[in-house]
Amino acid sequence: MSSLLITHIGTLAGLHPKETLLLKGKEMASLPQLQNAWILCKDGLIEDFGTMDQLPEQLPNELESVSAKGGFVLPSWCDSHSHIVFAAPREEEFVMKIAGKSYEEIAAAGGGILNSAGKLQKATEEELFETAALRLNDMIKQGTGALEVKSGYGLSLESELKMLRVIRRLKESFPIPIKASFLAAHAFPLAYKNDHAGYISLIIDEMLPQIAAEGLADYMDAFCEQGFFSVEETDQLLSAAAKYGLRPKIHANQLSVSGGVQIGVKHQAVSVDHLEATDEAAIAALADGQTIATLLPSCSFYLGIPFANARALIQSNVPVALATDYNPGSTPSGNMNFVVSLGCIKLKMLPEEAINACTLNGAAAMQLSEQTGSIAKGKRANLLITRPMSSLAYLPYSFGQSQIETIILNGKVQ
Ligand code: NIG
Ligand code: FE
Repeated sequence: MSSLLITHIGTLAGLHPKETLLLKGKEMASLPQLQNAWILCKDGLIEDFGTMDQLPEQLPNELESVSAKGGFVLPSWCDSHSHIVFAAPREEEFVMKIAGKSYEEIAAAGGGILNSAGKLQKATEEELFETAALRLNDMIKQGTGALEVKSGYGLSLESELKMLRVIRRLKESFPIPIKASFLAAHAFPLAYKNDHAGYISLIIDEMLPQIAAEGLADYMDAFCEQGFFSVEETDQLLSAAAKYGLRPKIHANQLSVSGGVQIGVKHQAVSVDHLEATDEAAIAALADGQTIATLLPSCSFYLGIPFANARALIQSNVPVALATDYNPGSTPSGNMNFVVSLGCIKLKMLPEEAINACTLNGAAAMQLSEQTGSIAKGKRANLLITRPMSSLAYLPYSFGQSQIETIILNGKVQ
């Protein structure tokens, strides 16, 4: 394999020691940097880095050299929460929202998740793969270098398997690490509207065994929310998933305080996601713990719901990650640059905190921080080169505009 040397880096940022796998509380404000630097990538991994006055004398054969022209080099974005496999966008709901309807009202009127499920059930695996691949290509161009993707628009054995097989194909076809979460507990299908126990049994007795047998999921997810899955139902689902070794990454406290955070912590969730509605008890349940609070500010932005209280979480020494939540209903955007900006502008995170939340902590929320999310020797060479910027803060400050000039995945310029 060939090697890549990036020279004339104005600032190389995100140099956490390799053994640092998760940042909590105050640690999140530190993003170690080196000025006037180079970095060498070999066989897809970061081989070494240093300052320009000490360029290595011995360089590998077959070396490609790129100048960063004074720009920043950062680790690629790690987007730990997305729903990019779906059959069709839902811009008719967008217009309903403009006219004043809430997310819950649209769902109750036959829109929402069930609308997407109806369309997905009719789509072929091939169509779903092609459209998800287009979305993923766009996300990669915007700097995403690791991704989690959920099922949850299937809501039947056949269609959930179809979605998870599409995610498996994405894993096999793209040069970035991808994790799959099983989210059949996203909404009750109409046929089970008055038979919640029947749908829970379908998930536990039929879907989970087959998904586990085929190794189609890395995590168990559930939408723990009023009108969706109760705390008791979530508890039952997470206990069943644990028997197959699937740890939870769940939707909690999006529209109301649901108790989802506490049930996630009880089941050692890797992350509890959303948290737009958060009370002191939820923060106390996460304080000083290992469960990551994954906040999704572009969902708040799009739905016009409150932004999560990132400051209170950081203050309570909770590890915070940021992700897109890319999906057709609540966040039709997979742009992590915008998430970094919203993290600063709306969640009042410092630029260093927002970048750590979108890189190392995002990687940790997919249990990938041993291989990606920071710049350390031996980690995967998934990097971004920006235009020259006056400071790190310029990146979130210039919201809506990409500063990314070059994408490197596995040590290769894309
Ligand atoms: O994370 N909240 C549940 N799931 C998605 C929205 C799904 C949809 O509206 O299609 C979310 O926001
Ligand atoms: Fe989501």
